[in-house]
Amino acid sequence: MCGIFAYMGAKVATPILVEGLRRLEYRGYDSAGIAVKDESFTVYKKIGKVAELQSILPDNVPGNVGIAHTRWATHGVVSDENAHPHASVSGDVIIVHNGIIENSRTLRTLLEKKGISLSSETDSETIAHILDYELSRDNNPTAAMHRTVSKLHGTWGICAIFQNHDVMVCARNGSPLIIGKGDNEMFISSDPHALTTHTQRVVFMEDGDIATLTSDSISMSPLNGINKEANITVLEDEWGEAELGDFPHFMLKEIFEQPDALRHCISGRLDRVRGNGRLGGLKLSPLELSKLPHVRLLGCGTARNAAEIGQILIESLARVPAVAHISSEFRTNDPVIDPQALHFAVSQSGETADTLSAVKEIQIKGGQVHGIVNVVGSTIARQCGQGVYIHSGPEQAVASTKAFSNMVAALAMFAIQVGRSRSISKERGQKLIQGLQQIPHLIEEYLENQGPIMEAVNAVKNAKSVLFLGRGISAPVAKEGALKLMEVAYIPCLAYPAGEMKHGPIALLEEGSPVIFIAPNDHVKQKTVSAIHECRARGAKIILIHEKGDSISEEGDINIEVPNVHSDLSPILTVVPLQLIAYHTALELDCDVDRPRNLAKSVTVE
Ligand code: M6R
Repeated sequence: MCGIFAYMGAKVATPILVEGLRRLEYRGYDSAGIAVKDESFTVYKKIGKVAELQSILPDNVPGNVGIAHTRWATHGVVSDENAHPHASVSGDVIIVHNGIIENSRTLRTLLEKKGISLSSETDSETIAHILDYELSRDNNPTAAMHRTVSKLHGTWGICAIFQNHDVMVCARNGSPLIIGKGDNEMFISSDPHALTTHTQRVVFMEDGDIATLTSDSISMSPLNGINKEANITVLEDEWGEAELGDFPHFMLKEIFEQPDALRHCISGRLDRVRGNGRLGGLKLSPLELSKLPHVRLLGCGTARNAAEIGQILIESLARVPAVAHISSEFRTNDPVIDPQALHFAVSQSGETADTLSAVKEIQIKGGQVHGIVNVVGSTIARQCGQGVYIHSGPEQAVASTKAFSNMVAALAMFAIQVGRSRSISKERGQKLIQGLQQIPHLIEEYLENQGPIMEAVNAVKNAKSVLFLGRGISAPVAKEGALKLMEVAYIPCLAYPAGEMKHGPIALLEEGSPVIFIAPNDHVKQKTVSAIHECRARGAKIILIHEKGDSISEEGDINIEVPNVHSDLSPILTVVPLQLIAYHTALELDCDVDRPRNLAKSVTVE
């Protein structure tokens, strides 16, 4: 979704801003713009990609201070006028804004009554005019920002620069902003990922914070009136390259990174001798773990699918009741929270607004939430204050792949850890730990010999719809496969537990309908075979994901085999061919595989 990047220092700002925007591109956006301050402001805005903005920039844009933005339209169509930055009428104030100003209609009317005519349809532009008006009262940019945000309802990450003041003022409420401190230079970004090429020293702004920056100072003056120090956090190096390298697309690169991503996720967290998991970030004693009344997991999209697998593993291995929730539905349903229970917020970006609001709901009601998060220092990770980083490295394709496998691995380690304090024997624990250790290698083995993926692609690419079926632990894998194909290739996809198929989805089947079955060699496989027969009897074309050497292969029209795997861990392996089918189908259909239409990498609005 929208992204902010800003710079002030001694260097020429424009190339730094453009590079910053490039690093935010993966989040999804529809227009981009920059404003640079020299003797006066110059503003460039363009719908489309950052490359298109770049193509209208003159060779040398002078100025050492600037703000930049990628916009994902909410208020107003996708147009150059609606793109950020937005200037006040006098031209003295320029802002970029992430979030939604809920009372923008009222503010527009008030501004129009004062004779200010707005040049865009956005909610954000109102901020520039109000800030300018407030600045004219006492010529103090920080105080003006205080008075401005006190008039706003909604969410914001705002970054403002001023014609007559050599400061940048930022404000945060519900939309992330991070200050990067260099040597006599400052960077601001809505995403830590865009800062790390410049500096590891960052200040995570909190809701209610207002920060006034020069190139060598940060002054925090939160809305609550209690001034505070700018707390500098030193970001640890994350593994992984943010560049494409030899891969044509990030999605493919990230599919292939799964073995390494998993190695980073499990490294130091497996105790082979005791057959146990060792998740350091869980602030729960073995006694507390042994007494857990239940576990609730929250997530959206892929994270929700991983949470469903976590639910199954926690129940089956740890024998603790568990349930996975869709974050966006959680708060709405006024859930009862047990303070003794454990809650997990599962999120790659750590910025998903629906999951964040579920976390806050639990905390308000006295519950504890642990994060299962990829992006270090993200809002959800900090809001939870405890949990497990999954260490997938930067994931830039909108379609999540390597984060899914690491979320499942992290939840499996948790299930083993709780299971060992309750019901699982050392020997069973050791087998699971060994199974986890083998998975990276098994994915490598599969990736070297992927099977007839292109045959599957040909079977689905022109289909009216594709049905994904699996049972038990493979039911959420079916959901994940359907989500992947739908989001990158725009094919309507339906996922069901295989046993439920006969209660409705079977009506869709006609001669040649593609049905993708996920059927590892586990205790529900025979039941899946019955569902295959029911589909075949209606003329369906069966694409079967199964384990190597399994006679179930006789049931498929297109058989994709994966190496043999511990049955509790099969999702980490069976999902890989589904990711590849989605990827190659999107390419066949000429879709923008890394940035599918209408989607954003971090969905920061509810
Ligand atoms: O960053 P999160 O894991 O919280 O994101 C949740 C979903 O928005 C995300 O998984 C989305 O469904 C992906 N595009 C799936 O590939």
